[in-house]
Amino acid sequence: MPVIIEPFRIKVVEPIALTTREERQRHLEAAHYNLFALPAACVTFDLLTDSGTSAMSTAQWGAMMVGDESYAGSRSFGRFESAVRDLTGFKHIIPTHQGRAAERILFQITVREGSVVPSNSHFDTTRANIEYDRGTALDLVGSEADDTASDRPFKGNIDLDRLEDLCRSRRGSIPLAMMTITNNTGGGQPASLENLRGCARVLRAHGIPFILDACRFAENAYLIKLRDPGQQARPAAEIAREIFRLADGCIFSGKKDGLVNMGGFLALNDDRLAGEARNLLILTEGFPTYGGCAARDLEAMAVGLREVLDETYLEYRLATVRYLARGLNDAGIPTVQPPGGHAVFIDARRLLPHIPPDRYPGQALALELYLAGGIRSCEIGSVMFGRHEADGGFQPARLELVRLALPRRVYTQSHVDRILEIGREVAAGARRMRGVEMTWSPPYLRHFTAHFRPLAPEG
Ligand code: F0G
Repeated sequence: MPVIIEPFRIKVVEPIALTTREERQRHLEAAHYNLFALPAACVTFDLLTDSGTSAMSTAQWGAMMVGDESYAGSRSFGRFESAVRDLTGFKHIIPTHQGRAAERILFQITVREGSVVPSNSHFDTTRANIEYDRGTALDLVGSEADDTASDRPFKGNIDLDRLEDLCRSRRGSIPLAMMTITNNTGGGQPASLENLRGCARVLRAHGIPFILDACRFAENAYLIKLRDPGQQARPAAEIAREIFRLADGCIFSGKKDGLVNMGGFLALNDDRLAGEARNLLILTEGFPTYGGCAARDLEAMAVGLREVLDETYLEYRLATVRYLARGLNDAGIPTVQPPGGHAVFIDARRLLPHIPPDRYPGQALALELYLAGGIRSCEIGSVMFGRHEADGGFQPARLELVRLALPRRVYTQSHVDRILEIGREVAAGARRMRGVEMTWSPPYLRHFTAHFRPLAPEG
């Protein structure tokens, strides 16, 4: 088979920082050992997130020039709305500045004290928004997601039996149910078409609205095409269109599979809910034909939503993720298997079994990857999801992961090769690492701003 190449050439370049280990050590101290506090100018490979970090295409930049910035009834909104409607089939398309604005509006009009919102796994902002409205965000991902080493193809599936039981016992408390595709928190794993169909069936039988968190819908659709023998002959675009049509609405962060740097939307079929959502939109985001976006952002997202379903792009995208995962595995670094859509998730618990959860093995590893080579990654473990109980106990996260997220169309093969070199260096010193202490944390979303202190390495 020919080498899978980046299906684009580079027209605009952006220099990246090359720093020394001593410089990186100083930057970490100044950032209280929180990678979110590092200036980007100190980072060589910014794998903190795939969100809002895509390189836009010539077609997207071109479309931005025809943005119609009218306050009301903008032509750009018309083009955006028809692109989203064509893809999703939803009736009401409500633009927001990013995904969490759509979440906040949706949950504010649906979640009350005592509400329960099930999902395969909620992303951190989704969970925080539900909890802010005094609801409970419940993760019902299938048990196969716990085994990070197994090669099962659809570890983003929801446990349909548990969903059915919950719907039976708590019907009155469930304003809506969700599926996150791909399942970011659970390792970027896809849900199968069969599972999504099953979820829609259960929810419809109980009269519960089914809302997708669809940020990475194209990657999920292409992973279905690759991994489900019954779907291999179908275009990813067709699979994606079917998925949206199973649901009653979605929240969408355009910063992922919209291939834009800012933008998102809330889509709903229900007229009453959409009316309430638009009222709230006007309070904080803006008039319904621009939401929280400039019209040129809507133009870029409309083009991005089509480009992201180009299968030469999707093939290259998923090949890069597989290449990075295999290289790390060859260096003795365990990753969540099989590699998912947008990122490689290192299993820090397996790499660093000697570091207990309250010494944050994921955070320790993320700091080491920065120190060794300027990689900025993201802990998705007990810093993000662990909890200190009132009685002084500590409830660790289900998994201790470090996410290396790949911005779309940004880094090249030689960048990934250098990242692998750094990985090998860190793996060689893994036994000496001892973890970190959290020295300060805020009440919500603590991973963004918490302070840490590294424990001195052994030997
Ligand atoms: N849902 C999922 C599954 C996400 O991954 C994100 C963002 C959001 C919702 C919120 O969207 O950032 O546009 O407000 N995830 C980013 C990440 C931040 O790095 O994974 P947003």
